[in-house]
Amino acid sequence: MGGVLSHKEARAFYDRFGAKQDLQSFYEDPAVERLIAHADFANASAVVELGCGTGRHAERLLRAVLPASATYAGFDASETMVALAQNRLGPYSNRARVYLTDGSLKLPMADRSCDRFLSTYVLDLLSEEDIRTVLGEARRVLAPGGRLCLVSLTFGETPVSRLLCRVWMGLHSVRPQLVGGCRPLHLQPFLKASWELIHHEVVCTLGVCSEALVASPLESSMR
Ligand SMILES: C[S@@+](CC[C@H](N)C(=O)[O-])C[C@H]1O[C@@H](n2cnc3c(N)ncnc32)[C@H](O)[C@@H]1O
Repeated sequence: MGGVLSHKEARAFYDRFGAKQDLQSFYEDPAVERLIAHADFANASAVVELGCGTGRHAERLLRAVLPASATYAGFDASETMVALAQNRLGPYSNRARVYLTDGSLKLPMADRSCDRFLSTYVLDLLSEEDIRTVLGEARRVLAPGGRLCLVSLTFGETPVSRLLCRVWMGLHSVRPQLVGGCRPLHLQPFLKASWELIHHEVVCTLGVCSEALVASPLESSMR
């Protein structure tokens, strides 16, 4: 993989990009819907989201999918994004909180304190080392039986999406900011032996392909 944005560069980009993130919904939503269909959010009690952006997916979960008693904690490194998400999740302030981070991926959460760890279109802008840190944190904060719920950009499987992917990766290698720092990834190899895969699916919309992945931490890997 080529270079990725530093945490500082990613924060600066998303501080500028702000609400324009929601224009990506045309390819994000179909993949996030497939994730929701397989992650059993209807039986969740505590959701943590890394890189919550404008809070669009959280709002949908709180409004229409999660039980009324479920709590939500969102984390993001961009001040602009945190302000947008806090505003959007205002109606759920009795059970939803959004926190600004310094970009470090260690979360201020107790071990085994949530049952869903959600991150959509964030791992695809992180370095491989950071992805491993995020997965370690997910394993730490998830309770037994909890679920890791990820969506990221992935490689195309049709001629059109393969071509688009090549163009996307070319732009990323010239200047990652041109594509929001994101590049296609395969998530599964990062899971290694610590996770049991529950669902994996590639969803392509207008040539942009995303993978939706749901996994559960294996007991033997939990400290
Ligand atoms: C492509 S956007 C995705 C936002 C949202 N999850 C969605 O699916 O629409 C990436 C988000 O990750 C946040 N982000 C990037 N690096 C981060 C880091 N190191 N820690 C926390 N958030 C980060 C950005 O500020 C931005 O809100």
